[in-house]
Amino acid sequence: MISNKYRTHTCGGLNKSNVGATVTLSGWVHRKRDHGSLLFVDLRDNYGITQCVFDLTDATVAGIDKIRPESVITVGGRVVARDASAINGKIPTGEIEVKASDYKVLSEADVLPFQVFGEEDVSEDLRLKHRYLDLRRERMHGKILFRNRVIRAMRDKMWELGFSEFQTPILGATSPEGARDFIVPSRLHHGMVYALPQSPQQWKQMTQISGFDRYFQIAPCMRDEDLRSDRMLEFYQLDLEMSFVEQRDVQEVCEAVVVSLIKQFSDAARLHPEIPQIPYDDAMLKYGSDKPDLRNPIIISDVTEIFRNSDFGVFANAIRDGAVVRAVPAPKSVDKPRSWFDKVEGFAKDELGLAGLGYIVFAEDGPKGPVAKKLTPEQIAAIRVAAGADAGDSVFFVCAAPDIAAKAAGKLRTRFGEELGLVNPDEFRLCWVIDFPFFEPDPESPTGIAFGHNPFCRLLDDSHELDLSEPLKLKASQYDFVLNGQEIGGGSLRNYNPENMLKLFAATGYGEDIVKQKFGGLYTAFQYGAPPHGGLAMGIERIVCILLGEENLREVTMFPTNQRGQDLMMGSPNTPFEQQLRDVHIQFRKKN
Ligand code: AMO
Repeated sequence: MISNKYRTHTCGGLNKSNVGATVTLSGWVHRKRDHGSLLFVDLRDNYGITQCVFDLTDATVAGIDKIRPESVITVGGRVVARDASAINGKIPTGEIEVKASDYKVLSEADVLPFQVFGEEDVSEDLRLKHRYLDLRRERMHGKILFRNRVIRAMRDKMWELGFSEFQTPILGATSPEGARDFIVPSRLHHGMVYALPQSPQQWKQMTQISGFDRYFQIAPCMRDEDLRSDRMLEFYQLDLEMSFVEQRDVQEVCEAVVVSLIKQFSDAARLHPEIPQIPYDDAMLKYGSDKPDLRNPIIISDVTEIFRNSDFGVFANAIRDGAVVRAVPAPKSVDKPRSWFDKVEGFAKDELGLAGLGYIVFAEDGPKGPVAKKLTPEQIAAIRVAAGADAGDSVFFVCAAPDIAAKAAGKLRTRFGEELGLVNPDEFRLCWVIDFPFFEPDPESPTGIAFGHNPFCRLLDDSHELDLSEPLKLKASQYDFVLNGQEIGGGSLRNYNPENMLKLFAATGYGEDIVKQKFGGLYTAFQYGAPPHGGLAMGIERIVCILLGEENLREVTMFPTNQRGQDLMMGSPNTPFEQQLRDVHIQFRKKN
């Protein structure tokens, strides 16, 4: 610790061993308490809080009682032991106080828009407008320092695993990660733009083609997409890429990183030992999501065949038109009042867009509910087996087109898991979702299909010559890393064959010219000896949030924008100067 005119110690550094010492401290006036002729000032800095006592009858400290909270002051004085009755066991400096002999105001604070001391509930916009005050608050300060330690641990682990850390450009060419690019108009090249990286995807592939075997980066990513609590315009990834690897090699690195973070920053006992590999089709069927929360024990099953020839006409007719029926058990719900079942039906109609829900209650004295009346005992028994329902459970049925039914059943599963208290909030459950469809239907594509994830991945089975006769059946070597129902990472083994690259793009309607124009760098590089490579990127804010039990990424981000993408503190986005627009040859269109 440097000793200078501002401080000999930090506000967290003094304890009983310093009693008798003359010290200088600097920091913010955290809280003042007036005890007649004595004024207690809690002085705060990054490291802690020290109680300073001012004798208001002493002329050398005159005026201290007028200083507003959050003013920055320097205090000189002597360390004394506190009376036994005044000891505060909650803070490291709780056994001492500083008897102030002088002070100096370094920077005076105005009346505050909100208090730093305490846990006052303040609107997010006001907090973000004065983020520097918000970040002084104990909880926020702690979260940002926590994030900083997590990033250091990630970095240490990557170094330990033999990765090299490189920085890739911020001004680049557009990369199709699925969101809109933020673009930066070029001054030197009239009519042209740079794109801010949605991720360093193409650059990191280039590191491998350049012969660097294991790359990582704490990479800033910018995506112009609609904001949600789990999405920001700017975020950071732990981005990595490796050469001469198979899918499992990349996964093992990611598991090592996340498991070590959980051990270091939480409790290893909270981590479930298994990290299953779940094929995408299974995930959509059993959990109704490609990011299943495995803490929720409910498993969805398909009961289409049981309903197909049943007397339950609504379902039987819909099945003839291509619908499927998914069964979602609601364990131990038999005693729920009728209103609970009505609310679930209301949720299905209002939130899931379904016409309705059927259900059977497996009561002690036999199956009940509107659907049960229309089914034979054998059909009911078959449903019970398929859904794994016990006496006391009910089973809800979602009947819709396959993709709608899967997602709606997934949302019901989540709702039941939370409402029925089935999800253990203390547990960490990891899994991999694998075998994603390579292509997906896309009515806007000239060929009717688009890349399922991104165009960089390789086919899961690339042992034969590329066969595109049934493109929607092809699987990708894409793997997503999921923790407690959140996608914390996504990656793939990459296609590094330039001919396949052209064919795969052609299947989505992109001609050779477009590929060469948009991805010419990679396409050309693949002609000169590219190693088989693959990688993944993890969302740093998402991981920090889960470790802290937070839900909103902005809570672990120092200077986030608000939900409308504005930085209220710095005032961005803002109107450029006319000259800046001229420099980059831009004129705004009139707003419609
Ligand atoms: P992907 O797009 O899946 O993959 O992103 C990787 C991870 O980044 C996090 N993430 C986000 N976090 C906050 N705000 C956002 N808007 C946001 N978008 C994504 C998620 C996600 O799992 N280039 C590929 C990686 C690769 O293939 O190696 C990519 O970026 O946790």
